[in-house]
Amino acid sequence: MDGTPYNLLICEDAESAAREAAERFACAAVRAVAKRGAFHVAVPGGSSPRGMFHYLASRDFQQLVPWSPTELFFTDERCVPPESDESNYRLVSESLLSEVAIAEDSIHRMRGEDTPEQAALDYESELHRAMGPSPCFDLIVLGMGVDTHTASLFPNSNAVLETGKHVVADYVEKLGAYRLTMTLPLINNAEQVMILVHGADKAASLAEVMQGPRDSCLHPVQGVRPISGRLLWIVDRAAASLL
Ligand code: 6PG
Repeated sequence: MDGTPYNLLICEDAESAAREAAERFACAAVRAVAKRGAFHVAVPGGSSPRGMFHYLASRDFQQLVPWSPTELFFTDERCVPPESDESNYRLVSESLLSEVAIAEDSIHRMRGEDTPEQAALDYESELHRAMGPSPCFDLIVLGMGVDTHTASLFPNSNAVLETGKHVVADYVEKLGAYRLTMTLPLINNAEQVMILVHGADKAASLAEVMQGPRDSCLHPVQGVRPISGRLLWIVDRAAASLL
């Protein structure tokens, strides 16, 4: 990614990458709470963050994260009810939130069961109510798909081109479905963004994103470039094998 400052951490395997991500999540939480009395974080669904959720839910980590002053948001959501197998809320809820001491009203889910446009508008209002008109997350965690999408910003979509709104609904042609997603202006306003990538199936995409020309319309994850915050990629050796 020409000219883009980023840090790349290559871990031995997916498990150590997940542990590293959980440790950094805990550090960001402690730092934010010490500084401002609250921790604002946004997490995705998909397979990328599952290992991190597993560690965060474990007994050791529960003591490390100040959950009660944590406000947890979602980077994106599928347009399904919260009880659906596909729901990101359900995934995070079952793998992490049910195991930690976070208050119910500090969990800000996107309402995938509502009409997509309305759900996006409502989530943007919820964000602004909680964090003001220019929300700055302490930490945003992202994954990357094989097609280089991140959050639900897919290649050549309207969502990846959005420059004003913080949350949009977008019809994703290849999925034949709507998604709700945070946009690049919101993501890039964060203090810290962590992108988690593991597995050999992501190796070619990661090499293209890191070493190829920059085109964030074609490779949405390349559009993640915090304005003044830090960007850290945490990847395993398998994903990094072509770098
Ligand atoms: C989702 C996630 C999404 C995901 C990436 C990568 O709803 O799928 O929120 O942001 O992290 O799409 O997908 P995988 O992690 O499943 O490879």
